[in-house]
Amino acid sequence: MTSTLLRGRTLSFLRWPETVDDHPAWRYEDDGGLLLRNGRIVAAGAYADVEKKADEGAKKIDHRPHLLLPGLIDAHAHFPQMQVIASYGAELLDWLNTYTFPEETKFQNAQHGRRIARLFLDEVVRHGTTTVAAYCSVHRESAEAFFAESHDRNMLNIAGKVMMDRNAPEGVLDTPQSAYDDSKALIAEWHGKGRQHYAITPRFAITSSPEQLEMASALCREHPDLHMQTHLSENHAEIAFTLQLYPKASDYTDVYEHYGLLGRKSLFGHCIHLSEREADALSDTGSVAVFCPTSNLFLGSGLFDYQRYRRREKPLRIATATDVGGGTNYSMLRTMDEGYKVIALNGEKLNPFQSFWQLTRGNAEALSIVERIGTLDPGSDADIVVLDARATPAMRLRMETADTLAEELFLLQTLGDDRAVREVYVAGRAAKTDMAIWLSHTSRLDPAAAIGQSLQRS
Ligand code: GUN
Ligand code: ZN
Repeated sequence: MTSTLLRGRTLSFLRWPETVDDHPAWRYEDDGGLLLRNGRIVAAGAYADVEKKADEGAKKIDHRPHLLLPGLIDAHAHFPQMQVIASYGAELLDWLNTYTFPEETKFQNAQHGRRIARLFLDEVVRHGTTTVAAYCSVHRESAEAFFAESHDRNMLNIAGKVMMDRNAPEGVLDTPQSAYDDSKALIAEWHGKGRQHYAITPRFAITSSPEQLEMASALCREHPDLHMQTHLSENHAEIAFTLQLYPKASDYTDVYEHYGLLGRKSLFGHCIHLSEREADALSDTGSVAVFCPTSNLFLGSGLFDYQRYRRREKPLRIATATDVGGGTNYSMLRTMDEGYKVIALNGEKLNPFQSFWQLTRGNAEALSIVERIGTLDPGSDADIVVLDARATPAMRLRMETADTLAEELFLLQTLGDDRAVREVYVAGRAAKTDMAIWLSHTSRLDPAAAIGQSLQRS
């Protein structure tokens, strides 16, 4: 098996950086090397040292002066919402009913699911993200499509078919039993196949009956190693409706708690309006609150209090995510830029090292997969992003006055997007280059259909 030797400025985190001067929190090599073999990083450090470990035939790729970081991680996104993103004028429940549920009915069609799964993973990788925790639609076929695409690309992704049996149109409803059976079949087929991870995915309490949450609970008991993902405390109308549907619950979190759905592998999207009791319950169980800044702003849901959640006596484990298509960008750089502004509106700051920790190691820790991804440590999977802080004229000009790594990272976060992503390695394979070559040979968006359709509706 041939190996690959990457050269560039390497940055990887060991722990949360308290300040921009907290150097022991990260490992940075100005002339760094990464030796990749069999999809793994087998050596990392100063280039001169790593080069000595490379075999004769190693393929050498010089990415200087760019930064090599662990691939970015998106802890919450909806792949069936690619044609929902940028839908105007609604708050959460209207947005779901007007745009999202009708769109998700299309995923009954397996071919549609496969096309969108392919385009979604193309888009994710193009933006430097190598792992996503994805919601599929209610249809088993949509999860089949997602996992098949993900497996073909050898990506480490976490995904599940959403369970939803009420308060939505017929075309996106299952039943408690069919949700259980379909989830079970998908787990058997995909969980642990290559790099695929299954997440038990009750959409949220409004669309799951008590009987269905009981089924989700049974799945979690039967598969304690699996992730569970859902939505929690995103919007005031959502909270009020939930408490109407579950009148015995003391608060929204208590609904999930009652069914044993809290735990270290439980990912709760949004968590904006938590009471202290709810935050304590999440903290006590090691549950994860997922911060989705572009979505929270776009839908007018509220300001996630990141620093207070971190600092409280019982701190929360936090991940960050795009939440596409409520979220407005596939880029985790754009996501952290908006996250920074939300944190600023709460009167706090997030320093650039903390941001990049969160995007890499922080999200890997929150997803309990840091032994595989999120760092450049030898033994890790070779998921790597190459970032260029001079990718646009404005960035290049601003870089003329940036003297430190902290300034460069902050510039990447503030001005960067997919244009700053020079290359992406997925399990050691140059995925962005491969995709560009493939795109040049084939039109994947079916231009004939696109031309026929667009102007008729204008
Ligand atoms: N709550 C339940 N479903 C969804 C969804 O698709 N997006 C968001 N943002 N919140 C939800
Ligand atoms: Zn969501």
